[in-house]
Amino acid sequence: MTGASAGIGAEFARQVAARGSDVVLVAQRLDRLKRLAGELGPAYGITATPVAMDLATPGVGAALDAALTVRGLTVTSLIDNAGFGTNAAFHREDSQRLADEIAVNVTSLVDLSRAFIERLRTHGRGVLVNVASVAAYQPTPTMAVYGATKAFVLSFTEAVWYESRNTGLRVMALSPGATETEFFDVAGAQARRRH
Ligand SMILES: NC(=O)c1ccc[n+]([C@@H]2O[C@H](COP(=O)([O-])OP(=O)(O)OC[C@H]3O[C@@H](n4cnc5c(N)ncnc54)[C@H](OP(=O)(O)O)[C@@H]3O)[C@@H](O)[C@H]2O)c1
Repeated sequence: MTGASAGIGAEFARQVAARGSDVVLVAQRLDRLKRLAGELGPAYGITATPVAMDLATPGVGAALDAALTVRGLTVTSLIDNAGFGTNAAFHREDSQRLADEIAVNVTSLVDLSRAFIERLRTHGRGVLVNVASVAAYQPTPTMAVYGATKAFVLSFTEAVWYESRNTGLRVMALSPGATETEFFDVAGAQARRRH
């Protein structure tokens, strides 16, 4: 579960743990991940493992794989939820921030999916959930890059769903509408009206 330190990801983790599954919580803010792990373990009798990782960096699939192997953990489902938006006219956007947005929303999602999908297919009873957005379905002026990253997630996930249809692995894109999380603190309040 990526992006488990806040918002939709933290709630996903609660719901998965409540169904009796162990969870691996990935995000940058380790203090929050530890707090959530400390809540979920005793509440649901599962093991919650926090892993601090910056998903804007290259090679996150191999890095997470290595971090889990060291801990003796096996992945049977993957929820790629981490992501953020930027909100400004494109010509005013910061280039590095855009690169990070694409790295987190797209590159890390593809890399993590690729790192684990063969094992997910072999296991055959898990899920691969990639979090897109309603922003995936049309261009989003002033959130041009964000909408494009989510269109990528939707297209990519539907293709992988098709490729996986005869395996036990269920693949789905989740496209939330505007949801009250820290997303708008990160993207800016103006994004709320357009999201
Ligand atoms: N809220 C909405 O209205 C809405 C609507 C449609 C889709 N979505 C999508 O839903 C997903 C979750 O968003 P949210 O609304 O829950 O927002 P949020 O409350 O801001 O949570 C975003 C999560 O992504 C993680 N993240 C961001 N950058 C990261 C990085 N470089 N490395 C690792 N983790 C990173 C954050 O953790 P750290 O900061 O600790 O790293 C946090 O856990 C996103 O993909 C978003 O695009 C949201």
